[in-house]
Amino acid sequence: MEIPMFSLVSSPFIFLASLLSLFLLYALAWMLIAGRRRLPLPPGTTGWPYIGETFQLYSQNPNVFFASKVKRYGSIFKTHVLGCPCVMISNPEAAKFVLVTKSHLFKPTFPASKERMLGRQAIFFHQGAYHMKLRKLVMRAVMPEAIKDIVSDIEAIVVDTLRSWDGMLINTFQEMKTYTFNAALLSIFGKDDVLYREELKRCYYILEKGYNSMPINLPGTLFNKSMKARKELAQILAKILCSRRQRKEESKDLLGSFMGEKEGLTDDQIADNVIGVMFAARDTTASVLTWTVKYLGENPSILQAVTEEQETIMRCKEKSGEDRILTWADTRKMPITSRVIQETLRVASILSFTFREAVEDVEYEGYLIPKGWKVLPLFRNIHHSPDNFPDPEKFDPSRFEVAPKPNTFMPFGNGIHSCPGNELAKLEILVLLHHLTTKYRWSMVGPQNGIQYGPFALPQNGLPIRLSLKT
Ligand code: HEM
Repeated sequence: MEIPMFSLVSSPFIFLASLLSLFLLYALAWMLIAGRRRLPLPPGTTGWPYIGETFQLYSQNPNVFFASKVKRYGSIFKTHVLGCPCVMISNPEAAKFVLVTKSHLFKPTFPASKERMLGRQAIFFHQGAYHMKLRKLVMRAVMPEAIKDIVSDIEAIVVDTLRSWDGMLINTFQEMKTYTFNAALLSIFGKDDVLYREELKRCYYILEKGYNSMPINLPGTLFNKSMKARKELAQILAKILCSRRQRKEESKDLLGSFMGEKEGLTDDQIADNVIGVMFAARDTTASVLTWTVKYLGENPSILQAVTEEQETIMRCKEKSGEDRILTWADTRKMPITSRVIQETLRVASILSFTFREAVEDVEYEGYLIPKGWKVLPLFRNIHHSPDNFPDPEKFDPSRFEVAPKPNTFMPFGNGIHSCPGNELAKLEILVLLHHLTTKYRWSMVGPQNGIQYGPFALPQNGLPIRLSLKT
């Protein structure tokens, strides 16, 4: 016999059974949530209310703070800095968990003032479809296939730069910043738009002064001046966009990639990302170059090996009657120099750590990382752990003759937010080292031991050196 639907639902037995299952479901969900909440937080201390352990972190070399915590609590510990509860992680597997396997549970996070200066629509601050689109556009302009064609233009910048240092006492970091900014402009705007180059530089230099300032937007403050310079930069970019559109030419540079019609980026989105790439490309590469000059200066036998490798390339080109201009193929024949760059990236670890924020409660290895907490993978600690790199304080490029263990070497980060500009950065460094080692000698001036953080790790006082042409 068929039972009518109505009688099924209305039968008291079914009603009670539904009620019971609802109750059981609710109880199960509650137990799950409560169970999760009962997971312990990682070990560690959180210091004073609100200020936490900010003072302990910033009153000394930050690496001393990290190292003492790791020694006491192990590779995952909690702390509280800059008004935020944090979990710091210094083991390769945990870093992979946060940056790669479960990256959707950890969003990038920056101070609000950085977001306002770079522009809220810049790649760094996003996840999901918009981020993937921007990443594709950046990669298209800076992957090896695209930068192969600009080796000789980068070389021309290097030759001019080094010539301007001849016989001078220079601040290596400041001079390297000029070089890397010119190289960044080349990759963004190609060789066009020279008209606006000096204006772009002037505004960008004002903007960067405010990067680490307090976000107080009152007349006369650094932040206020920076925000004005940012506005001016966006106006210059609008002029460049306008004149490119009138010319109707397609360009393979980064601006051309952002301007692709089917990409549909607005002018504001393009401006935020152009300024963002200037920021990401310049001081990072300049810091690494500065450390490379220091480590080569301190290790004469390694400098000798690099110089010989570069002289061999130069002589081969002369012998074969080839044009003396460096090519992409030449830069692929520099294994010793490349290992020096890798070892510099490891020892200097210019980005000591990065920031993420848990978007929900996350369980890792029996610990709870609560929603909203910051999570900091500590690159420097991973790069300086004797478990990953024996005798870690020694500058020894030969260790890279063997590939490092997975997830132990992350100078360019890891996962969906890892650095898309890494090949461009390495190219800029290789080309500069080619000319520096084959044509110039240099000596360091003043004390050599200090490190300053601002925010990238740098030799004290930017490494003053005296440089001259080899005779
Ligand atoms: C030696 C020089 C450089 C170093 C050490 C470096 C390092 C890094 C690191 C560690 C990240 C990831 C940060 C994170 O996960 O939170 C990153 C991201 C990024 N880098 Fe670099 N970088 C360098 C040069 C460059 C250059 C030349 C460019 C120019 C295209 C560039 C563009 C970017 C961009 C756009 C991002 C954001 C990627 C995203 O969010 O998807 N970087 N960089």
